[in-house]
Amino acid sequence: MIGLREREGRLMKNNSHSLLISIIVTTVIIGVLIGCILLFYFPNDFFVSQSITSIRLLPFAGPKTQENSTECESKTVALLSDKNAELKKQLRELTERLRIAEQGKDQTEKEFLALVKQEKAGPFGTVKALRTNPIVAPDESVNPRLANLLEKIAVKREIIVTLANSNVKEILEIWFTNIKRVGIPNYLVVALDDEIAKFCESNQVPFYKRDPDNGIDTVGKIPNGEAVSSLKFRILREFLQLGYSVLLSDIDIVYLQNPFDHLYRDSDVESMSDGHNNMTAYGYNDVFNDPGMGWSSGVFTRRIFVYNAGFFYIRPTIPSIELLDRVAARLLKEKAWDQVVFNEELFHPSYPGYDGLHAAKRTMDIYLFMNSRVLFKTVRNNANLSKLKPVIIHLNYHRDKLTRMKAVVEYYVNGNQDALKPFPDGTPR
Ligand SMILES: *[C@@H]1O[C@H](CO)[C@@H](O)[C@H](O)[C@H]1NC(C)=O
Ligand SMILES: *[C@@H]1O[C@H](CO)[C@@H](O)[C@H](O)[C@H]1NC(C)=O
Ligand SMILES: *[C@@H]1O[C@H](CO)[C@@H](O)[C@H](O)[C@H]1NC(C)=O
Repeated sequence: MIGLREREGRLMKNNSHSLLISIIVTTVIIGVLIGCILLFYFPNDFFVSQSITSIRLLPFAGPKTQENSTECESKTVALLSDKNAELKKQLRELTERLRIAEQGKDQTEKEFLALVKQEKAGPFGTVKALRTNPIVAPDESVNPRLANLLEKIAVKREIIVTLANSNVKEILEIWFTNIKRVGIPNYLVVALDDEIAKFCESNQVPFYKRDPDNGIDTVGKIPNGEAVSSLKFRILREFLQLGYSVLLSDIDIVYLQNPFDHLYRDSDVESMSDGHNNMTAYGYNDVFNDPGMGWSSGVFTRRIFVYNAGFFYIRPTIPSIELLDRVAARLLKEKAWDQVVFNEELFHPSYPGYDGLHAAKRTMDIYLFMNSRVLFKTVRNNANLSKLKPVIIHLNYHRDKLTRMKAVVEYYVNGNQDALKPFPDGTPR
């Protein structure tokens, strides 16, 4: 902002400078012209004091020279009035600029900035909107202890983060065992209780225990699902504020490759889908039948299966942080499933009374970042798809998580082709 003000100031100085120059130039031109006229009429006695405006009152000499003197005079007058108008215009502009500069408010500066940035659209097919928002400036003051920890374990300012308490030890063990096996160094467990912190410590798993003196921490001890899910988004915010991109991960996930080798990093949020094929995961036209309408009874609607709030990559941008804030704030107030709220905030456009979020989003490849419905209903029964090597398998569609996770490891890591066979498609009710 200071730079801008300086710039405007310089602009002003330049302007008054050029005004001064044009006044001098005009004066010189006028002087020369008067000289020319006087010399013409009074070749022997041209030292006459006359005002510029009285030139037009000068008497004409004989018919022989009248034509040329008239020409000279009219040219001079035209030139003078031109110059006058120009000067007046410059003066007007200068006053206007002064007025704007005096206002000197943010709005003017914003508009000025917008003007500076303004670009032409360019030819057909060449335009591309901004998709990758700039990242925020890291603010270590929000959590110096976490900043210090992340400095040591993050890779290229990216990290896998999960939240766990002691109820899920066994699942967590499969989670970090596979991460270690794949050789992913940049992951962190946010330990929600002492027992899980000790468990991590004894397994050389990087963990972060939140500061018990921090008010938010007590939320982690409340056995209320909504409060804990709100906490997840509030903890995530700190990572983003510190300038890190987070791959948020549930623990019912088996890692088979390093996910950081398979990200696009072009959007605020890049998420795995609960969809089970291209249509449901990437979006489709769902035709609503409105029988009474006859000719227009088929109404097109747009649908997409939800993003999975248990596995998404989020970049440290303003829209990302706004998303986390919106979701966390709603989860504190409403009794709602965090995934539903996450998707509503991400996808709903603005409408009267509501301002939608402006965040860029990307759906992950459903065969690389695979949910357990895709695995158990499609992939395991398809000769081609079962040969693919996924990056992760998320057991989100099943309740018997532990046994299915072990089977996934058997199938993909140990090569046991029969490992997935005993399971029904879904978990029985
Ligand atoms: C008047 O000006 C014209 C050109 O503008 C020139 O050809 C002509 O010789 C001039 N006449 C006199 C008398 O100076
Ligand atoms: C599904 O989408 C992927 C990625 O766009 C594409 O490569 C593949 O051919 C699609 N499969 C089908 C069956 O449409
Ligand atoms: C597997 O791929 C081959 C070659 O693309 C194709 O002919 C075959 O139909 C596919 N099989 C299945 C089960 O999709």
